[in-house]
Amino acid sequence: MRIVSGIQPTGNLHLGNYLGAIRNWVAMQDEWSAKGGECFYFLADLHAISMPHDPKALGENTREMTAALVACGIDPDKSTLFNQAQVPAHAELQWLLNGTARVGWLNRMTQWKDKAGKNRDGQSVALFTYPVLQAADVLIYQATHVPVGEDQKQHLELARDIAQKFNNDFCAEGAPLFTLPEPIIPPAAARIMSLRDGTNKMSKSDPSDMSRINLTDDADAIMGKIKKAKSDADALPSEAEGLEGRPEARNLVGIYAAMSGQSVAQILADFGGKGFGAFKPALGELLVEQLAPINARFNELRQDREALNAILRKGAEKARAASAPTLAATYDALGL
Ligand code: ADP
Ligand code: NA
Repeated sequence: MRIVSGIQPTGNLHLGNYLGAIRNWVAMQDEWSAKGGECFYFLADLHAISMPHDPKALGENTREMTAALVACGIDPDKSTLFNQAQVPAHAELQWLLNGTARVGWLNRMTQWKDKAGKNRDGQSVALFTYPVLQAADVLIYQATHVPVGEDQKQHLELARDIAQKFNNDFCAEGAPLFTLPEPIIPPAAARIMSLRDGTNKMSKSDPSDMSRINLTDDADAIMGKIKKAKSDADALPSEAEGLEGRPEARNLVGIYAAMSGQSVAQILADFGGKGFGAFKPALGELLVEQLAPINARFNELRQDREALNAILRKGAEKARAASAPTLAATYDALGL
């Protein structure tokens, strides 16, 4: 059993990234390694060049994301943690699979249609063939399972189609080269909203730093931001329905629920009838308590370039070794 999953390297990481993405990876690592499975986690830096990008920022963001993953609990000894660019088998296998993937299949990808819009001719070839690289990312490790959100289901289907056609066209009957990976649907992640309005997504691109809790924020910053978070003058309701039409209140209670593991109903049973003067300090303390160890480790690691490079180097070595047999067999099957 082997899970393979990638994440785009981004900087300025915040509570939304933690609760919506990184925390799921940590949970999967712990769940799968307990069952004797393996996790291959990669920073998708090769994917990043499909869009206009700043080379200096890409390298920095790759290290920043690595630091965050490790600080949040990804253990480089338990999981294979690496960046794609250091494992040439990803790009090599993509080229080999380009012989099998059909243009019509890629033309049907809704993400391509959405991202390219009316200007298809102006897009990079990489944006068009991105799903073939995604197929290579998982097939090269013979992944048995791939976590996919709603927007990635079609790409995993494509990876399975490519694998099946390759097995069919180039492998002896009963001796397929590629494993067809099964999707696993991660538990619904919390969607965290801006602290300024409760309706826009918490995002690194929001110009106001007060709109988000950064993973670099210390206890004072966290308490200050929660204190100033937009709320209303009413007391909290004692039932979840009472949060309807109160986006700021719903967001703050949602953050409390995601951080504490308690249900909204439990939280409202405790805080219903109390105002934000009572709820905000409790939420701030909860965030500080849970984020302080992550924050300390993150701030230390992100400044230790050597340590981060060593983590990625070691992960890439493991990934190169794991990918070599499949790559060799693919060349062989194609008569190369
Ligand atoms: P941003 O919106 O800050 O630019 P990204 O688009 O780089 O964040 O997202 C990186 C990952 O973090 C994605 O998996 C995304 O789903 C998750 N994520 C980002 N913002 C949030 C949020 N506010 N709530 C939940 N998950 C989020
Ligand atoms: Na974004």
